[in-house]
Formats: sequence, structure tokens, C-alpha cells
Amino acid sequence: MRRLLVAGNWKMNTVRKTAEALASGVASGAKPHLATVDVLVCPPFPYLVPVAAALAGSGVSLGAQNVWHEPKGAFTGETSADMLLDAGCSHVLIGHSERRHVLREPDDLINRKVRAAIGKGLHAVLCVGELPDERSSGRTQAVLDRQMESGLAGVEAGDFGKLTIAYEPVWAIGTGVTATPEQAQQAHDHLRKWVAARYNPEVAKALRILYGGSVTAKDAKNLFEQADVDGGLVGGASLEAEKFVPIIEAAAAVTASGK
Ligand code: PGA
Repeated sequence: MRRLLVAGNWKMNTVRKTAEALASGVASGAKPHLATVDVLVCPPFPYLVPVAAALAGSGVSLGAQNVWHEPKGAFTGETSADMLLDAGCSHVLIGHSERRHVLREPDDLINRKVRAAIGKGLHAVLCVGELPDERSSGRTQAVLDRQMESGLAGVEAGDFGKLTIAYEPVWAIGTGVTATPEQAQQAHDHLRKWVAARYNPEVAKALRILYGGSVTAKDAKNLFEQADVDGGLVGGASLEAEKFVPIIEAAAAVTASGK
């Protein structure tokens, strides 16, 4: 069975002190639930090391928000997978919509990052999702197919133990407009079927697919109850332990109810 994963994407927020305090707050709030739910936080690069210290022994995982695919060298401003591992990361977000659309990362670069991360033993969280006009013009599934096909080029079925997909419709990110549970389920079902067809049904069944886009404690339970929604990638509501821990609690409650 797939365990639910609740992941916090802190984006370009916090300072060192607030990052450490937030990590400690998440660690203590998550503690009673870690037997049944996985929890991940992704702070900004400068705070990975202090947050790793704040999380030490807690069972909460640490992830970065980006990675560069080359192992080392003249790549000013970039960070390698080995550096992330050395800083205490087990996970890395790749292809977040802000990197695709604000930083203009193309599909082939995202694919290189996915392969480099998995190759080094990091768990890649590949983010996919359609723009508002792509949804309104009925192109959602075609966009997801393209992002999956290119993002996972060269990724083998045997690599899927190091892969999570996050479905994040761009129109829902940071907007307060959460996808309805039905919209999320429909997209997740489509993504899982895509993986079953492209790889095999076993890999598809084991793959975690997170929903991201304005998740709050209010709607988390309804989303997580959907058959193919395996947790959430949370932005805004991950910046305060008081808002993030109830999302973890919602995941634990859904798990306890027998999902
Ligand atoms: P949001 O961000 O929860 O603030 O919409 C989600 C994300 O971008 O991962």
C-alpha cells in the first residue's frame, strides 16, 4: 500500500532562525504520526544544513528545491546532487512550475536533473501540471503526457523507488484556488494510467502521486481521501507549523480510516 507523504515547499521564505524554528515545530507535530505518514520539508539552500540539524533523529525527511545535473565544476550558482546529499537531503523537487515558468527551465533540462538525482541516490519529486489556458482549452492531459514523457526519458522501471510525481496545476499554486478532489483524482488517475502503459502496472501502483496547489488543512482530508492522491506538496500552508501539522494530521486520519 502507498503511504501518504506530506511535503512542505518553503520556496524562497524563512531566515535561518525561522527556518530552524519551523523545522523543530514540524518535527514535534509530526512525531505522533510518523508511524503511518511520511513527512518532508524543503527549505531554501542556505538553511539545508541548519534545518538538517534541527530535524536530526526526528524521522522528518529533508529535501532541496532544485539541483543541477552536472557532478561538479564551472556552474556558477548551481548545486550538485552530491552536495545535497552531503547537506543531509534525501529528496529534491525537480521541475516545479515556478522553475518551469518563471525560470524558464525546459523539459530536457528537467529530465537531466531527474536522471542525475536518481543516479546519485536522491529521491526525485518531479512536478508536473498545466497552465490555466491549457486546462480551459482541454489540453490538460496532453500537457501532462508531454511533461511525463520528457521528464522521465531514460528513467527505467527499476528507478521508480526513487521517484515521486507531484501534480500541481499552475492555476492552483499560490492562488487560493485548490483543485476540487474530483479534478485532482482525475489528473492523478490519468498520470497513474500513463505510468502503467509506459512502464508497467506494478510500478504505477507503487508510485506516489502528490497533489499540490493551495492545499490547506481545510481541504487536505477530502483530497487525500481520493484513491490516487497519495499526499500533498504544500507551499503557503507549510510556512507555519500551526498550519502544516494539521495537514499531517489529516493524512494520518485518512490513513487510520483505512485508505
Ligand atoms: P501553494 O504552493 O501550496 O502555496 O499553492 C504549492 C507549491 O507550489 O508546491
